[in-house]
Amino acid sequence: MDRISDFKGVRTLVTGASSGIGLLLCRKLAEKGARLVLVARREAELEALRAEVAAIGVEAIVLPCDVRELAQVQQCVSRALAHYGNIDMLINNAGYGGHRPFIDWPLEDMENMIRVNYLGSLYFTKLLLPQMVAMKNGCIVFIGSVAGKLSTPDESAYCASKHALAGLADALGIEVEDDGVYVTIIHPGAFDTPFFQERDRARMPPVAKAGMGEPQALVEHIFKTLARGRHDTTYPAGPASGYVVRALAPEFMRRQVKKVTFDKIKHLAR
Ligand SMILES: NC(=O)c1ccc[n+]([C@@H]2O[C@H](COP(=O)([O-])OP(=O)(O)OC[C@H]3O[C@@H](n4cnc5c(N)ncnc54)[C@H](OP(=O)(O)O)[C@@H]3O)[C@@H](O)[C@H]2O)c1
Repeated sequence: MDRISDFKGVRTLVTGASSGIGLLLCRKLAEKGARLVLVARREAELEALRAEVAAIGVEAIVLPCDVRELAQVQQCVSRALAHYGNIDMLINNAGYGGHRPFIDWPLEDMENMIRVNYLGSLYFTKLLLPQMVAMKNGCIVFIGSVAGKLSTPDESAYCASKHALAGLADALGIEVEDDGVYVTIIHPGAFDTPFFQERDRARMPPVAKAGMGEPQALVEHIFKTLARGRHDTTYPAGPASGYVVRALAPEFMRRQVKKVTFDKIKHLAR
């Protein structure tokens, strides 16, 4: 496929379906008649979502899985394929963030962030891609971040994890296009979900707080991206102008980023 707007019967596996953007995406997919595989660690939340979509006649299976663990991902994919035969669409959405200086960021958490935000998506993609290529049909969606295009201080480990994801999505998308697999990455700005814990909200620079959007609008944007067959979008679009400025005038952009982000929060207690 090279775009998708009809989700009726589309067998879709969504990681991070228990909360925030993933939960809203699943609700919208259910409204549109997709068949779902709900993946995250918190089973009770996934079961509640399964019951909710079942009430409107939509089939969903719950597969609790820690995306950091390859063995769990392998088992999850096997069970999803055993149930549905094939998976048509994969939405790599599970992830978490953080706001802290690199020097204070525990190494274990930096490793953990790469495992959840990057390796989790890599595992699901690696395991589900072959059957999409065999069908000559499939769609893989990555939920990236503006932080995966434009690095910001106080988010170093998160930026690194999302840059890795963007690199994977870009290269893979070109490789598998002629095999009928459509790959896209969406880079959200800041949206009000449980993603931002109290500690992170306290260290967010005013420019990021002021731009915080409602996640429902992002979900609408994701469906428009899929309908148009776009491969790389940023929502809201504003920050994308920063990508251009950075490419053309990196020293200027660096000074601007420091001024509107780090200079505003560096006095805060660490
Ligand atoms: N909100 C924003 O402003 C924003 C901006 C840019 C990008 N994003 C990206 O959007 C995605 C979703 O974030 P969100 O805002 O919806 O945050 P959220 O409400 O905190 O949801 C995160 C989801 O990821 C799942 N998850 C985390 N660790 C996991 C693990 N080890 N194994 C399996 N699932 C795991 C969580 O499920 P369990 O805890 O149940 O496992 C939860 O369902 C993330 O990739 C995030 O980086 C968000």
